Amino acid sequence: MQRQAFDWRQAGRRVVLVPTMGALHDGHRSLINLARKKVKKGGVVVVSIYVNPAQFNDPQDLENYPRTLSSDKKICREESVDIVFAPNNLYKKEESVEVKENSLTTRLEGVHRPGHFAGVMTVVAKLFNLVLPDFSVFGEKDFQQVAVIRRMVRDLNYPVSILVGPTLREENGLAMSSRNVLLTNDHRDQAAVLSRAIEFSRQSIGSRSSDLKRKLRRLIEKQPDAQVDYIEFVDTISLSPVTKVKKGSRILLAVKIGSVRLIDNGLL
Ligand code: PAF
Repeated sequence: MQRQAFDWRQAGRRVVLVPTMGALHDGHRSLINLARKKVKKGGVVVVSIYVNPAQFNDPQDLENYPRTLSSDKKICREESVDIVFAPNNLYKKEESVEVKENSLTTRLEGVHRPGHFAGVMTVVAKLFNLVLPDFSVFGEKDFQQVAVIRRMVRDLNYPVSILVGPTLREENGLAMSSRNVLLTNDHRDQAAVLSRAIEFSRQSIGSRSSDLKRKLRRLIEKQPDAQVDYIEFVDTISLSPVTKVKKGSRILLAVKIGSVRLIDNGLL
C-alpha cells in the first residue's frame, strides 16, 4: 500500500482516504462522494476496510461486529472507488507504541469505552502512514472521534486535511450506522428515540443541562429495551460540558437498545 502511495505522490496525484470498518451503508456512500468531489477524476479515492481490534474494549462487541466484505466491495465499485485497502491485520506481534490523547478523550466515549480512542488514533495514524493521503473523510455521527482525530492531526503535524460528512438518517430518524444491522425490527423502532431526544433538545434551548438530561433520560427509557449510557450537552469545540443548553452547543448521547450500543449527536 505504501509503495503504491509513494507512486501516486510522485505522479502528483491527490489522494483521499475514507477509513471504515466495513459494513458499508448509504452514510459511507455519501462520505465516498465527498471524497471524490474533493479530488475530482484525476485524484485517487481509497477506502480502507478494517475492523480494528485495538478500538474494541468489549471482546463480544468485536466478535459481533458485522463483516460484509463482498457487498462492501460491490458498493465501492458502484461508487467508483479507485482502491479498496482491506488488510487482514495491521499489527505486528507485541506492538508497544500507541497514540494517546489526554484531554478530549477523558470524557464521554473515552470514559465509557476505556482504550477506545487510543485504538482509533493508532489505527488512523497507521492508515495515514500507509496511504499518505492529502485528505481524509470522517462521519459527523462519531462527533468525538472527529474532534480527537483533528487534535491528533494538529498535535502530531500530520499533513492531512480532515473533511467531515453529515450524518445520514433512516426515515424514522435513526442515524445510519454499521451497527444498525444488529437491531431487530422492534429495536430499530425503539432506536428512533435517540433522534427524538435530539429534536426535543432543540426545542429546549435555555434549559439547565441537568434538568433536560433528566427529562431526556425519562423520555428515552420509556422504550422497553433502552438504557442510557450518557447524555451530555457540550461546547462544540472543546467538548466540555455546558451548564445551560444554548444554541450552538451540541448534545451527545449513547444508548443501549437491547445489547446494541448506539451513539448519536446533534447541533442545537
Ligand atoms: O469510524 C470508524 O469506522 C473507525 O473508528 C475508523 C475511523 C475507521 C478507525 O478504525
